[in-house]
Amino acid sequence: MSDQLLPVSTGRRAGRVVWDVLRTRPVATAVTLLSAVAAAASGLVAPAVLGRLVDAVDRQEGSIGPFLVALLAAALLTAVLTGVSVVLMARLGETVLARLRERVVDRALHLPSATLDRVRGGDLLSRVADDVAKVAEAVTSGLPQVVGAGLTVLLTLLGLGALDWRLALAGLVALPLYVAALRWYLPRSGPRYAAERVAMGERSQALVSSVQGADTVHAYADEARHRAVVDDRSARSLSITLDVFRLYTDFGWRTNRAEYVGLAAVLAVGFVLVRADTVTVGAVTTAALLFHRLFGPLGLLLFTFDDIQSAGASLVRMVGVADLPDVPPAARARSTTRPAVELRGIRHSYGGPAVLDDVDLVLAPGEHTALVGASGAGKTTLAGVLAGALEPSAGRVLLDGAPVEDLRAHVGLVSQEVHVFAGTLADDVRLACPDATDAEVTAALETVGAGWAVAMGLGTLVGEGGRELTAPQAQQLALARLVLADPPVAVLDEATAEAGSAGARDLEESADAAVRGRTTLVVAHRLSQAARADRVVVLAAGRVVEQGTHDELVAAGGGYARLWAAWSARG
Ligand SMILES: Nc1ncnc2c1ncn2[C@@H]1O[C@H](COP(=O)(O)OP(=O)(O)OP(=O)(O)O)[C@@H](O)[C@H]1O
Ligand SMILES: [Mg+2]
Repeated sequence: MSDQLLPVSTGRRAGRVVWDVLRTRPVATAVTLLSAVAAAASGLVAPAVLGRLVDAVDRQEGSIGPFLVALLAAALLTAVLTGVSVVLMARLGETVLARLRERVVDRALHLPSATLDRVRGGDLLSRVADDVAKVAEAVTSGLPQVVGAGLTVLLTLLGLGALDWRLALAGLVALPLYVAALRWYLPRSGPRYAAERVAMGERSQALVSSVQGADTVHAYADEARHRAVVDDRSARSLSITLDVFRLYTDFGWRTNRAEYVGLAAVLAVGFVLVRADTVTVGAVTTAALLFHRLFGPLGLLLFTFDDIQSAGASLVRMVGVADLPDVPPAARARSTTRPAVELRGIRHSYGGPAVLDDVDLVLAPGEHTALVGASGAGKTTLAGVLAGALEPSAGRVLLDGAPVEDLRAHVGLVSQEVHVFAGTLADDVRLACPDATDAEVTAALETVGAGWAVAMGLGTLVGEGGRELTAPQAQQLALARLVLADPPVAVLDEATAEAGSAGARDLEESADAAVRGRTTLVVAHRLSQAARADRVVVLAAGRVVEQGTHDELVAAGGGYARLWAAWSARG
């Protein structure tokens, strides 16, 4: 089940979540909504005034001065109200998004390891990064326009209906044509935009690889072939972009047709009604202008339909994560110093065959045990179970003879691949104990022999965008983290390092210093480390096949003895 995805919420639930946030700021929400409605409504003034003007001219009465003043005032009012509502809406949208983003990140960071283990890593990352970015983009650049357009369409239709229901009905003739245009466009646009993105990506890829490898390309006089590849990708990208543009103009043509038919219907019905003397020429003018006013906002809604849909899809994916149950943080209650650790009947499978098969293992208080075995034997899996990072399919882990609520509160794990978090050196070490002082961080670093880190300065930026650390340095930071957290039980899953290298020897000393005084399990890839442990446990295909002291196992002449002989011969 390693390909399970995180939950995706429903549109209704997403709406509910947004509404819940809005409800906490009723005044801001009400003012924002009112300003948007006022902005849309003020746009109705100009067509109405123009209609009156036509009637006045028709009856040849009054002067046009007051009408001009009214038009000017309406234009100014619309401009001011629109500006205000756009700002207010963007601000409110950002607030809602910020709350939601905090929740998503919070839940993502607190996902139980068992869940993290099941879901695809990429899925979580794309929820926290891509989906949030997409919704943020929609909120700042699209939302005010879309809401404004929606309100304008709604109010204009209402105004049209209030003016004369027959004229409004005539305008509705355009509706089926709009629907048809959208139904023609939507199934075609998604795949084409996707193809366009892919083609552009391929073109950049070809360009970048040719430019980066320019020296090699020159050396092998391979320019022509590379240029051909770039030419080919560019041509493809160009042709797809043209295709997309054609689709776009086709869609434009279809919406224009709907506009034309609607406007023609309003004018034709207006003509008949004026002839029958039921409405004035001014009223028909207003109706035609109102209908014409729909074109802009309707077009905006139609052309951004894709974006709205994809932002909506991202929103429900975000809410899916935000709605995950809250997991209480690991209780920091500690067992005794140096507890006895017992693994009883541990089995585990990742959905396929058993990776651990009925493993029983006892670590005496304070004992240092080395776990060895071939690659894939299940060492990392066993380490994960012992550290509480992985829920075994069966079996229990006991500390001092009793099960504990959350193993992670008692066991410190340094995993096979350590990660350097972007930030300062001090923060990286402080990860497990945010309250630790600089002095404590320095002490922890010195304990594991990471004097270089102290010399570099605790404030040095490391990780992505900062100073690059070597793999042994990163490992030492992880060990310092363990020292600072000071758990009674330690599990080290060693990185496979070149035997005999100076880095490996230093790391062994760092590791020994870090686990001093703790009940410890070390997954040892270098047998020199196993030789120094109190006891060695050999794992093969998920089962414990040998255990004893190094000397006992060597004397027994079994699998471990052969491994040791081969290792010693390597020097
Ligand atoms: N997340 C996972 N999903 C599916 N199978 C996994 C997963 N992690 C490990 N396995 C499989 O479980 C078996 C044991 O893996 P494990 O990582 O525990 O071995 P290991 O002894 O630590 O190996 P190495 O010495 O290479 O680190 C392997 O066959 C591996 O392919
Ligand atoms: Mg491993």
